Amino acid sequence: MPEDFVVTPWDVKGQIDYDRLITQFGTQRITEHHLDQIRKAAGELHPMLRRGVFYSHRDLDWILDGHRRGDRFALYTGRGPSSGIHIGHMLPWFFTKWLQDRFGSTLYFQITDDEKFLFKDFDELREATKVGYDNILDIIAMGFDPKKTRIFLDTEYIHRLYPIAVEVAKRITFSTTQAVFGFENSNNIGEIFYTAIQSVPAFLPSLDAGRDVPVLIPCGIDQDPHFRIARDVAPKLGYPKPALIHNKLLPSLLGPGGKMSASNPASSIFTTDTIPEARQKILDAFTGGRATVEEQRRLGANPYICSIFAQYNYIFEPDDGHLAEVERTCKSGERLCGDCKAELWGKVETFLTRHQQAREKAKDRIEQFVVRDEGSPRDK
Ligand code: TRP
Repeated sequence: MPEDFVVTPWDVKGQIDYDRLITQFGTQRITEHHLDQIRKAAGELHPMLRRGVFYSHRDLDWILDGHRRGDRFALYTGRGPSSGIHIGHMLPWFFTKWLQDRFGSTLYFQITDDEKFLFKDFDELREATKVGYDNILDIIAMGFDPKKTRIFLDTEYIHRLYPIAVEVAKRITFSTTQAVFGFENSNNIGEIFYTAIQSVPAFLPSLDAGRDVPVLIPCGIDQDPHFRIARDVAPKLGYPKPALIHNKLLPSLLGPGGKMSASNPASSIFTTDTIPEARQKILDAFTGGRATVEEQRRLGANPYICSIFAQYNYIFEPDDGHLAEVERTCKSGERLCGDCKAELWGKVETFLTRHQQAREKAKDRIEQFVVRDEGSPRDK
């Protein structure tokens, strides 16, 4: 089979076939049955579930069955602090926040400054830690409950993480990491060890509680390989296997076949973009429009390749009725790309303005969220 796309935790390229990824990774599709169950438990369905943005899982039934029997599950997600935050990074966090609100879950949020140093995003470890702290402002600004959220940087919480990381590492062979991640002789040994660190927070809730706590990990499908390993190891250490719920990656503003990427600032809206910068990115975004207005009125446009429509669908238009209206009027030619961009910009501007205010306030709230080893250096 020709491989025209690549999805690994460190590299995403090409036009992703999300159905094929389910087969490749061996995950399960989220079905109507799951959606019914979640609707019953949560009282509503998040738009990202209704629209298949979160579309794949491992062991979600186990989480939902447990919840029905009164078992609280914990949430675990993370961020590799390679750069500033854009809305593509935030996509799973909106959903994680909804899960926390609806299910009252404690959230473990890992900031992998070690990972981003080891995988060469930075020459200096402290640079990664610094970006980690900057990213934490965005995480806090999402509105997570400070009483139920623990954010930690690997380098500042390593004393807590390390004993479990060692237990995990002992059960992973080099050939497993080669098979799962494609590592070669030239990879540094920190890269090879790193997956052990990313598994640890899947077991921390149980360790903290002194009993088995089910854990659900909302994450981009690209992170699944780490957790395949974590799930293999879990029973060997006497922990329950973490469950996963996977999202598709937010399409780039630059058109099909790309995800939003920090290496190309025009591909996404960053939380620190100024209002004029963000507005310009939306105005310049790739659409499914025709060459001329006359043609578009006559033939209609294509929402399915349009990056603006993707932003409505994935994040900015929770109302299904209005989304369907946008889709219909786009295809019929009633709506032009300029109309769509102006309307989206209104939504993005409101969001960005609020987020930037919350992000400013977050500077005084870091200590409500961050947990560290005793004696670990603070806030650089
Ligand atoms: N490796 C992830 C990244 O590069 C960060 C991460 C750590 C993560 N733990 C996680 C992501 C758990 C999702 C879920 O962004």
